[in-house]
Amino acid sequence: MQRITMADGLETSRVALGFWRWAQWGISVDELERLVDGALELGITLFDHANIYDHGNPEAAFGEVLARRPGLRESVQIITKSTIVYPSASVRVKYYDTSRAHIVSELEASLRRLRTDYVDLLLLHRPDPHMNPEETAAAFSQLHEQGKVRFFGVSNYKAHHYEMLAGYCDQPLITNEIEASVLQHENFDDGTVAHCQQRRIHPIAWSPLAGGRVFTGTDDAAVRVRAELETVRAEIGAPTIDEVALAWLLSHPVGFLTITGAEDLGFVRRPVDALRHRLTDEQWFAIWSACTGHKVL
Ligand SMILES: NC(=O)c1ccc[n+]([C@@H]2O[C@H](COP(=O)([O-])OP(=O)(O)OC[C@H]3O[C@@H](n4cnc5c(N)ncnc54)[C@H](OP(=O)(O)O)[C@@H]3O)[C@@H](O)[C@H]2O)c1
Repeated sequence: MQRITMADGLETSRVALGFWRWAQWGISVDELERLVDGALELGITLFDHANIYDHGNPEAAFGEVLARRPGLRESVQIITKSTIVYPSASVRVKYYDTSRAHIVSELEASLRRLRTDYVDLLLLHRPDPHMNPEETAAAFSQLHEQGKVRFFGVSNYKAHHYEMLAGYCDQPLITNEIEASVLQHENFDDGTVAHCQQRRIHPIAWSPLAGGRVFTGTDDAAVRVRAELETVRAEIGAPTIDEVALAWLLSHPVGFLTITGAEDLGFVRRPVDALRHRLTDEQWFAIWSACTGHKVL
């Protein structure tokens, strides 16, 4: 498994396992422990959580695995996120909160669930149009000084959101977790990926298989892309089209990390296996053209 230096002092696997679909998985802590072991055997050491994933249940289950296994915490890197507040008995509408108090209290709640003293990476889940960056930067400084968060980053940010916040923070923003796949080219088109290259940061691609649409989508783009993936699969001798779709992302010079959203270890290993394929420029653009729906000029 390739490893990548995301920042001075933070090395991780290029493939992460993510917990957004925890409720859908419906697995026990014992089964999670086996999944984590299987991921570790594949060389995956990066685990992607968020305070809102299934009301914190996957964080709590992961925390139980950590508690059972002394020494495991030092072998893994944990991401969590906050910002989004969902409606509840006391909250009328969904909104974003990037205040110091909210970021600190949500992170502390994540630490309690995860049964750890620190996370490796805290991300702001979504850009906040109502952000007071001084507040957010103060939260980062506090959590860093207290040793509760090692590194900070953002998710779903555009370049201007990132630069605005970076201008206030003492800590560097070391990544942007963004949607990117053979069926999602917006972040390539609007300069988000180029901005990561400019900043020399490695983005993390979420839904790298478009949430399964690569296999099951019946829309024109999905049908077109699937056919092209099949052509390239045959050319490079890959066993499955998802390896090709993942190789397409992983071979981009920006140096993407990808997050696997599957709990089936047979699927979890696909991005790991995809790392052995190298697409030619022509193959990369054949898939790009299928993705965008037109040839390059
Ligand atoms: N930062 C953000 O805003 C954000 C947003 C969304 C997601 N994320 C992160 O990204 C992670 C991955 O997202 P995702 O779950 O949408 O990723 P994904 O890998 O694009 O999609 C996963 C879905 O595809 C299916 N699948 C995966 N590999 C397959 C294969 N080889 N053959 C057939 N089906 C396959 C899975 O099926 P099974 O369910 O049957 O395994 C699952 O339903 C999340 O867990 C979360 O950590 C972050």
